[in-house]
Amino acid sequence: MNVTEALQTRRSVRGYRNEPVPHDVLREMFSVAQHAPSWCNIQPWRVVVTSGEATVRLTQALAEAATSTAPSPDFPWPGDYPEPYNTHRRACGKALYDAMGVARGDSVGRQAAWMANYAAFGAPHVAMVSVDRRIGPYAMLDLGCWLQSLMLAAVERGVSCCAQACLSTHPDAVRAMLSIPADEGLVFGIAIGYEDGAVAANGCRTTRAPVEGNVRFVE
Ligand SMILES: Cc1cc2nc3c(=O)[nH]c(=O)nc-3n(C[C@H](O)[C@H](O)[C@H](O)COP(=O)(O)O)c2cc1C
Repeated sequence: MNVTEALQTRRSVRGYRNEPVPHDVLREMFSVAQHAPSWCNIQPWRVVVTSGEATVRLTQALAEAATSTAPSPDFPWPGDYPEPYNTHRRACGKALYDAMGVARGDSVGRQAAWMANYAAFGAPHVAMVSVDRRIGPYAMLDLGCWLQSLMLAAVERGVSCCAQACLSTHPDAVRAMLSIPADEGLVFGIAIGYEDGAVAANGCRTTRAPVEGNVRFVE
């Protein structure tokens, strides 16, 4: 598989088989992702990867926190999305709900779909990603470079992922469980495992604008 194929094949997977990824495969994916670029090569991503019982404990704690306390992310989430972003956002939600067979007015179905996030969609592994709070927005860019590097390394190995900002809504619960230092802010989690093709949500396909929508070529 070349890089273009990996880029075109990767997609967010929201339903996993109950089958762990062998530790050497996991370790290799994360080792390859270490090659991600970062400003001044500061390599700011800090990551805890769970397996087995640790994934169960983490997802249980997250679900409990999400049902009993209000979200309080370390880094503020975007509020309203102006256009054209709101149109993209709505299309993404519609693609997912359509795949799941959740109708527009089905608030119970939507709540269940949201809560599936806190179970990491049944993934056997979760990577929780944090960053030193003292370094600003450019460190977030570095984390983005790292995230895509990891996801492409996963695709190459037949492993699926879903980046999940949702897993950062209750950072104190995660910090306590995984002994993440207080000076690190939680940014997102990543569900990792093997895709369960029978899960309806995995029928979801998103689209992209033509390149002219984002890029101007100037001579
Ligand atoms: C930083 C980041 C956070 C995300 N958070 C979530 C999330 O909390 N829950 C979720 O289901 N998908 C989440 N996603 C997945 C996006 O919805 C998905 O990447 C987008 O719709 C494009 O679809 P694709 O990944 O299948 O190409 C996130 C993606 C990124 C990059």
